[in-house]
Amino acid sequence: MIWNRKHLLDLQSLSAEEIIHLLDTAREFKAVGQRSIKKVPALRGKTVVNLFVEPSTRTRISFELAALRLSADVINFSAEASSLRKGETLKDTARNLEALNADIIILRHGASGAPHFLARFLGAHVLNAGDGAHEHPTQGLLDIFTIREKKGRIAGLNVTILGDILYSRVARSNIWALTKLGANVTLCGPPTLVPKLFESFAPNVRVTWNIDEALRDADVINLLRIQHERQKASMFPSTGEYAALFGLNTARMAKVKPDALIMHPGPINRGVEIASSIADGPQSVILEQVTNGLAVRMAALYLVNGGASLQVAG
Ligand code: CP
Repeated sequence: MIWNRKHLLDLQSLSAEEIIHLLDTAREFKAVGQRSIKKVPALRGKTVVNLFVEPSTRTRISFELAALRLSADVINFSAEASSLRKGETLKDTARNLEALNADIIILRHGASGAPHFLARFLGAHVLNAGDGAHEHPTQGLLDIFTIREKKGRIAGLNVTILGDILYSRVARSNIWALTKLGANVTLCGPPTLVPKLFESFAPNVRVTWNIDEALRDADVINLLRIQHERQKASMFPSTGEYAALFGLNTARMAKVKPDALIMHPGPINRGVEIASSIADGPQSVILEQVTNGLAVRMAALYLVNGGASLQVAG
């Protein structure tokens, strides 16, 4: 297919065909990463700016490495050391970066819609690296890439997302893309964090507050951290109670399918949403998700830059 999107802002607006094209392109880049020479010249001469106004480990570093593997020049913007601290607006900051010939701006921001806002007036390509509780498209893509690689398909799989759904951009990106690709998505957690409203996203989304029911038939269990930084009120009595009622512990793990994948976008709060032994156990693909994030982000950078003409397969 011909990729004709200038930006990657969300998965809600992508078609199933576009999502598959991104995943297939990422598979090509994963193969490139297994060669002795891992660099390709796709973005040679281009300047990529990592504009992260919220903390990040995985997303920022893998976007940086992805841009370097594509031969781009990369600038890492540190919000704490920037003129944002002196009252400069996001719009002025981005326009100044563009004045320095930034070709691609990767934005992480606490405000939902911030990347869409930049995309309205910038000439540069904009990639969303997580905006508030709205979306985290490359995380959704790397999660689905990992599931597809491990299970060979997405359609018909039962995917449970367990935890703080309400405040999760990862959950939203996963829900939009998984349902378009034909998975059955079950959302589970405390009622205050998993409103029934999510069932209106797609017919193949189900909300349950019964963890045994959510885990029983799951082919994939994606665990989410409690996002205290985004919660405006106390959503449950205590972390201990949350762990007891909704944490994936060894007793619950004994009842899940033996081939169920255990996933987590990170950062993990060990002993809260997941027991340490499960995070490090044989069914966990958490670090493989991180590895696949590099290929997915190479694919995203490559495609938004109009890379359809470059042969990446070796
Ligand atoms: N999964 C994720 O977005 O992790 P970081 O916040 O470390 O980028």
